[in-house]
Amino acid sequence: MASSRSNPTMKQRTLQQVFRFSLHPIHRFEGTCATYKQPVEITSFSYDSNKVLHMDDRELRYYYPPNLVEEADLKNGYDAYIPKENAREPIDALLDALFHHQQKTGEKTISSADVVSWRGIFTKILCTPFARNEPWELGATLWNEHETDWSTEQANALTPQHKEMMYWGYKFETLCTIPKPPKEIKSSDDPDLVNRKLGLVNTNIQYCSVAKATLGRNRLIMGAEVDCSDDVKPPPPQNPVGSYVELKTSKVIQKEKEQFTFERFKLLKCWAQSFLIGTPKIVFGFRNEMGILQSVKEFKTLEIPRIVRGKPGMWDPTICLNFANQFLEWLRKVVVIDDPRTSYTIMFRKPFKNIEVVHASVGKSAVAERFMSMLED
Ligand code: A3P
Ligand code: MG
Ligand code: MG
Repeated sequence: MASSRSNPTMKQRTLQQVFRFSLHPIHRFEGTCATYKQPVEITSFSYDSNKVLHMDDRELRYYYPPNLVEEADLKNGYDAYIPKENAREPIDALLDALFHHQQKTGEKTISSADVVSWRGIFTKILCTPFARNEPWELGATLWNEHETDWSTEQANALTPQHKEMMYWGYKFETLCTIPKPPKEIKSSDDPDLVNRKLGLVNTNIQYCSVAKATLGRNRLIMGAEVDCSDDVKPPPPQNPVGSYVELKTSKVIQKEKEQFTFERFKLLKCWAQSFLIGTPKIVFGFRNEMGILQSVKEFKTLEIPRIVRGKPGMWDPTICLNFANQFLEWLRKVVVIDDPRTSYTIMFRKPFKNIEVVHASVGKSAVAERFMSMLED
């Protein structure tokens, strides 16, 4: 996970040694907030409907508000849904994109990073001080972090009802996006608007941004699926992240308790996810229990912390950022074995007091070997 070379004093650790990073006392993460430098896009890539990888923006979608009169049923099209072939996102596509960028520009971006991973993994880490009963497990080598078989099994263990409700989130994405910039839409019978109404949901299709950011002294590279953009992407070296938009669905809020749950859990995750990659806007589709969209509301990512500030039992972005900063610095001192056959498992599980890191030899790792070759290239 770290591109810096190993610390020889820590090389001789015995197998299965456990390292622990405590979450408590949590007030040690209060105070001055660790600096998070604005994420800057390095490159981007797309997966097409057949899950073929392309080093371009062909699958970038544009935000176009949904038509709540004609397109409000998120259940529509479930029978024809084409789900992603593999719930797990291997790190390979991210490496391919960085390798491609390195070949094209000569920039050795990867060797200037301390941690390389998917944005979803950084989101988990950022939310950990306020996570309740949500265990996670990651695998890491000195060169990267990735999901483990355990995480994949959790994702695959969803009930049919959960799977259908997941579809509602994807359907919302289809109903809010078009394949060309909104200013090119001249009338309501534009073929792209007609198509999205009939729209097939295929979650193999993805557009991903690869960005660098700095949290305290941790230089990060992350890959993130971006739901859509407000506008045409400006050409490099301009940074396009300011036009990206995150789409989310949530249950309509009718009671005080539901308002609390939305702010305490959903806004935390959405803030963390969007903040990390510099997405300034989140569009929420509020739906009823039958999956019918009732309303759409925009939130500015940077204004979300103000919504929850000072409310009892809420989360605090300073604690999230300081926790992630200190945890990543600590992790970089623990994950040091400079050998592609060594992998670490990072676990957050009951009773949710510590993050544990265990290392073990796992045989040759193709991913780690690729990282090595890119560092040496
Ligand atoms: P919602 O978040 O609107 O429910 P994302 O919002 O990150 O772009 O993800 C799109 C959709 O994928 C989500 O829509 C949800 O349906 C599904 N999804 C993503 N991550 C998930 C997770 N950890 N568990 C369940 N569903 C998930
Ligand atoms: Mg998404
Ligand atoms: Mg989304």
